[in-house]
Amino acid sequence: MRKNIVAGNWKMNTLPEEGLELALSLIEQYKNENVQLIIAPPFTHLWEVSKVLEGTGIYLSSQNVAKEDMGAYTGEIAAEMLKEIGVQYAIIGHSERRAYYNENCQILAQKVNKALATKLNPIFCVGEKLEDRESNQHFELIKKQIEESLFHLSEEEIKNIVIAYEPVWAIGTGKTASSEQAQEMHAYIRQLLSEKYNNEIAENISILYGGSCKPSNAKELFQQKDIDGGLIGGAALKAEDFLAIADSF
Ligand code: PGA
Repeated sequence: MRKNIVAGNWKMNTLPEEGLELALSLIEQYKNENVQLIIAPPFTHLWEVSKVLEGTGIYLSSQNVAKEDMGAYTGEIAAEMLKEIGVQYAIIGHSERRAYYNENCQILAQKVNKALATKLNPIFCVGEKLEDRESNQHFELIKKQIEESLFHLSEEEIKNIVIAYEPVWAIGTGKTASSEQAQEMHAYIRQLLSEKYNNEIAENISILYGGSCKPSNAKELFQQKDIDGGLIGGAALKAEDFLAIADSF
């Protein structure tokens, strides 16, 4: 059975002390065993947060990872470094990385490989822009993003991937995809996985929705058959909101 997951992408927000406080209040209030919580603070916070998360059942993710092994790559953070301090997941392919840092499908495939080789589980993000949806190219585009960055993986490897469908037009805009629009895309992604691998693998991969997910709309989204949780941005910065979203399961 696939897991229900609610993951918080803090993006470039909070100072280290604030981040630690946020993590501590999540630890204090997290009780729902039906859902796995993951938090993705900025790199500067990871080590401290990792120490307090130990043994709590809340998992830790980075927001990015280098595609190279350790070495002369100024400004990058290697998968080995993250693994060493207790990070279990890495967000890869967030639309902000694709748009502002030119991360294309080939670069993202390399990042996925590096994460998997180091036993970090990728939370791999896909999503279309508004113009793609309006010109009815959203299914093709999502297919391309998945094919070019994930479909070189073996059956054993793909099992370690979490996919997040995040329509770019819904991120940070207050516009959520309707539960029908999200379900339709999630079912499509699962179908692609089933065709490429097999039904059992497809049924066991968690597919999260992201984009203005909040306490008021999480329940309806999470009730959809193929929506297994959320990747939460803005609402992950307040413990009450993040936990209320998790409690929508
Ligand atoms: P949002 O961000 O919840 O603030 O829309 C989601 C994300 O970018 O992962």
